Amino acid sequence: MENVRVNKMAMVIVGLLALYPLMVMGGPIRHKVGGNKGWNPNVNYTEWSSQEHFFVGDWLLFIFDKHYYNILEVNKTSYENCIDNGFMKNLTRGGRDVVELKEARTYYYISSGGYCFHQMKVAVHVEEHQAPITTSPPPTMNSASILPYVYTCTFIILANVFFINLVSIWM
Ligand SMILES: *[C@@H]1O[C@H](CO)[C@@H](O)[C@H](O)[C@H]1NC(C)=O
Ligand SMILES: *[C@@H]1O[C@H](CO)[C@@H](O)[C@H](O)[C@H]1NC(C)=O
Ligand SMILES: *[C@@H]1O[C@H](CO)[C@@H](O)[C@H](O)[C@H]1NC(C)=O
Repeated sequence: MENVRVNKMAMVIVGLLALYPLMVMGGPIRHKVGGNKGWNPNVNYTEWSSQEHFFVGDWLLFIFDKHYYNILEVNKTSYENCIDNGFMKNLTRGGRDVVELKEARTYYYISSGGYCFHQMKVAVHVEEHQAPITTSPPPTMNSASILPYVYTCTFIILANVFFINLVSIWM
């Protein structure tokens, strides 16, 4: 009887350990570019991006008026000099556009139409996921970015309830 209880306990611990990587990573985050100011001229995006941490698998959300502005991915030189000719990628869609950050590198985005000269440019330094020490969410989370985290937590809780039930049926 005592042994069964110990076995059950061990199974639950193994189950929790298996889910641990998911818990600490907290899932991908969606960063709303410029926060509540969105993607517009005369916003200091250098300041904005310096207050965020970007990891591989995260998303950027650009909110803008597509009649005036756009999102072009360019290289570093073009970013620095606001050159929109020969851009790498046009990411403009409807004005509420998401971009996945797939690689650990610096991404550069500008708006053409001269708006880049009015600060409408952003450099995003994307890092590889590192094994974090704590289970708390990243400190830069805002309301827009907390949703994936909530989903992940809900998933973990459900997965654990399921796992514990499974163990009780077996034992
Ligand atoms: C934007 O903010 C950065 C960092 O605070 C600062 O160095 C830079 O001068 C600012 N740019 C403009 C155009 O104000
Ligand atoms: C950056 O892109 C511009 C425009 O296409 C191109 O002329 C330039 O050679 C590129 N620079 C680098 C370092 O790749
Ligand atoms: C970028 O794509 C959008 C939507 O497809 C299009 O309307 C726009 O003309 C494109 N801009 C450039 C600079 O190619």
